[in-house]
Amino acid sequence: MEKRVILLIGYKGLIGNYLYRFFKKKKYTKLLAIDKDDKINLLDSTVLKNFLEVNKNINYIINASGKNDHIKREKDKNKHEDVKILLDYINENVVVPKNIIELSSVTCKKLKSVVHFSSLYGLKSPYHPIYNRKKSLSYCVSKTALEGLTKYYATLLAPKGIRINNIRVGGVKNNQPKDFIKSFLKKTPINQMVNKKDLANTVDFLCSEKSKYIIGENISLDGGYTLW
Ligand SMILES: NC(=O)c1ccc[n+]([C@@H]2O[C@H](COP(=O)([O-])OP(=O)(O)OC[C@H]3O[C@@H](n4cnc5c(N)ncnc54)[C@H](O)[C@@H]3O)[C@@H](O)[C@H]2O)c1
Repeated sequence: MEKRVILLIGYKGLIGNYLYRFFKKKKYTKLLAIDKDDKINLLDSTVLKNFLEVNKNINYIINASGKNDHIKREKDKNKHEDVKILLDYINENVVVPKNIIELSSVTCKKLKSVVHFSSLYGLKSPYHPIYNRKKSLSYCVSKTALEGLTKYYATLLAPKGIRINNIRVGGVKNNQPKDFIKSFLKKTPINQMVNKKDLANTVDFLCSEKSKYIIGENISLDGGYTLW
């Protein structure tokens, strides 16, 4: 059986690091992994272009990089986000995925599928009270844009045999305050935070021929959070 070649971007992050260990153990899989922490910053499209040029045999790309809005205290609750912050989020969460899709679909002749990660707030507004502050507007807008980008490129690249999909991830446990988790779970029908293994299995499915008829989806992996 021929090995699938997977590129994992952002392998040092919370989700990326789990995926790295998960795919490292998989049979018939060659894993390439890059991260900004290793001085490979994809905000510079030349860096990505050069990397793909020497790794043209990639079949699957998992993009676990991005800019997150982790829980923090807000000093001034009435202050609106600066445009600079919005542009930072757009660059990390929209421009980087755009470059990944555009460059890899031209350079990697055996490319089959690209997976990105959206958020609950790519689909709906945050319920601000559980955060004890406003959730970042820029984060939400960037994830909504990512969902649009996914659908746009899915239709354009399907005839080339390249599938673009997105997993809309719910809350991953990451030392959040106990009262936050309690409120978050009240809004999650399954009453559990995201299980990283379930997430990895969904990514694995999208990086296989088992999902070959699925394109342009923003798959909710959220225990039902977005249903209410
Ligand atoms: N953690 C969650 O609860 C959650 C929920 C929903 C969606 N997501 C999404 O999943 C993805 C991964 O989230 P996470 O929590 O693991 O994030 P994280 O911040 O823990 O990790 C992101 C990783 O990507 C790398 N990175 C960032 N920008 C990069 C760039 N320009 N070039 C190369 N590498 C870069 C960082 O160095 C880091 O290692 C993000 O898109 C995030 O928005 C996460």
